[in-house]
Amino acid sequence: MAMGILGAIVYAQLISVTVSGRVQPLHPYLNGQEKPISSIFDTSNYGILQLNNGLATTPQMGWNSWNFFACDINEKVIKETADALISTGLAKLGYDYVNIDDCWSELARDSEGQLVPESKTFPSGIKALADYVHSKGLKLGIYSDAGAFTCQVRPGSLFHESDDAKLFASWGVDYLKYDNCFNLGIPPKKRYPPMRDALNATGRTIFYSLCEWGVDDPALWAGTVGNSWRTTDDINDSWASMTTIADLNDKWAAYAGPGGWNDPDMLEVGNGGMTHGEYRAHFSIWSLMKAPLLIGCDVRNITSETLEILSNEEVIAVNQDALGVQGRKVYAYGPDNSYQVWAGPLSGQRLAVVLWNRGLKAATIMVKWDVLGLESSISVSVRDLWKHEYVSENSRASFSARVAGHASEMYIFTPKLIHSAS
Ligand SMILES: *[C@@H]1O[C@H](CO)[C@@H](O)[C@H](O)[C@H]1NC(C)=O
Ligand SMILES: *[C@@H]1O[C@H](CO)[C@@H](O)[C@H](O)[C@H]1NC(C)=O
Ligand SMILES: *[C@@H]1O[C@H](CO)[C@@H](O)[C@H](O)[C@H]1NC(C)=O
Repeated sequence: MAMGILGAIVYAQLISVTVSGRVQPLHPYLNGQEKPISSIFDTSNYGILQLNNGLATTPQMGWNSWNFFACDINEKVIKETADALISTGLAKLGYDYVNIDDCWSELARDSEGQLVPESKTFPSGIKALADYVHSKGLKLGIYSDAGAFTCQVRPGSLFHESDDAKLFASWGVDYLKYDNCFNLGIPPKKRYPPMRDALNATGRTIFYSLCEWGVDDPALWAGTVGNSWRTTDDINDSWASMTTIADLNDKWAAYAGPGGWNDPDMLEVGNGGMTHGEYRAHFSIWSLMKAPLLIGCDVRNITSETLEILSNEEVIAVNQDALGVQGRKVYAYGPDNSYQVWAGPLSGQRLAVVLWNRGLKAATIMVKWDVLGLESSISVSVRDLWKHEYVSENSRASFSARVAGHASEMYIFTPKLIHSAS
């Protein structure tokens, strides 16, 4: 009996062991004593691979220029966005990286072989921009490519890793997104580590964001190379793209952990291609999946609806939870498997749960305790993270909620566990 209850006390009783200097939480079910009720919370690969540059203990948060502006960027836009992150209160919630994507540089290197900011759009240079962003208490990110050219055909950093890393560091850059265009057919595993080493050699701590589009299953190797790695092709501002990418990213859940995260690409919330409910689902699932939360809209002109989504502190807290275990799809049923339960463990012996309706019609979606690895007799309090209130103090065996079409609801489940220390 006692063992039965113990067996049902799940996820959150993660213990930490130290493996070659790293803290590596283990799932109790994977310790061999209890039956592995669910492979759903398999964390066997968690934290094994780590770049160990001290960054990304939780997924990165901030903004990136690409999804809204594409190539239409300049230093004014970047500065105004930094200002807007402050004035909207988003910076205070953790969105502190201001990341410039492609198109910041001239079409050619200078006579010394150095990258040059485009004089028309960045006349003051990147150092001045970094100083400005830093003066606001924020950090500056830049973009390059592990190829001969960037995707927009500016000079790439392949074979220029050391020079470019030094230049970025001299400008005070804090973050590098490193793309995959014009890669000369050289495998990512060969092209991405040199920039890691070059960044490290500068002595400046720079977040290293790999963007090889998931082509070479980076979850399997990129943890020793970067702080995050894209698992998929680019997102676009549609429900079809967002859901496809969520499913692809889900496959690699066991490999994410503090120091290195799966990256299903930047947020489209606020760009107009999805409904409010769809954007809320997008943000909920990205948070649950411990994805980077990089805003992709025009923060200078943000609507209150968009701001409400992006500044939901309870949802952000799931993303930034210290345990750092990626939530995943644990159950799907109904027409075309469109009634979905996504869940993951949180610190404090809690669970984050998203009920996601992938169909067009409203539906009641049920989560049974067994798919969460809980015994049905356990009592659970349920907090709704969008309503900001407890919707049940004492659920047993299952919980269900009405979920609108193409929408989701998000909860924290707190099982009333018997703390059997003995
Ligand atoms: C360089 O790498 C070493 C070994 O992983 C690490 O301890 C150090 O913090 C890194 N330095 C920087 C600046 O990233
Ligand atoms: C967006 O992504 C979806 C799903 O991958 C794809 O079917 C669609 O063609 C894309 N749309 C655009 C405009 O690229
Ligand atoms: C601000 O956003 C609205 C849509 O929400 C758009 O119609 C308007 O053109 C935008 N203004 C600017 C200056 O971009």
